[in-house]
Amino acid sequence: MTKPLAEAAGFRFWKPLVWDKKAIGMGYHYRARYEFILFFEKGKRKLTNLSIPDVLEAKRIRGGYPTEKPPEISEILINQSSSLGEVVADPFMGSGSTGIAALRSGRAFAGNDTNAKAVDLARNRLTELGKESAQLLARKGTAKQLALV
Ligand SMILES: C[S@@+](CC[C@H](N)C(=O)[O-])C[C@H]1O[C@@H](n2cnc3c(N)ncnc32)[C@H](O)[C@@H]1O
Repeated sequence: MTKPLAEAAGFRFWKPLVWDKKAIGMGYHYRARYEFILFFEKGKRKLTNLSIPDVLEAKRIRGGYPTEKPPEISEILINQSSSLGEVVADPFMGSGSTGIAALRSGRAFAGNDTNAKAVDLARNRLTELGKESAQLLARKGTAKQLALV
């Protein structure tokens, strides 16, 4: 479902990456330890480091926001595909882990979520990082947007 939608929006699909969560999860036969990350490109953009493998390792987060991702994974992706000072956007930011990774990597961040609790959580986490002042910039419908520079 994601691939045709992204392609219709002008993205080229390159390959799946594997997130190795370093610990087994739910299941009975061969319990789950990985998730796929779909790698798309719009326009031409050379990756920063051509020696990064297609299996990325970071321990899963237990007991956090639903399906919260470790910032270490986003940090690799952000450093590979953007430059210092550029804006990273996550329209489904949840707990703001992509924002954490963006700020740690010297990028600006713009995030959005329809869940007001997620926006509060993300704003608190990002403010605590101490590198910025978080601002709620706008509301549209039930969605809230958060932009940090
Ligand atoms: C998988 S979670 C994101 C988890 C996030 N990557 C993290 O590490 O915490 C998806 C998020 O998308 C939000 N969401 C779902 N539909 C949305 C929509 N139409 N617009 C904006 N946010 C939406 C949900 O509230 C949820 O917080």
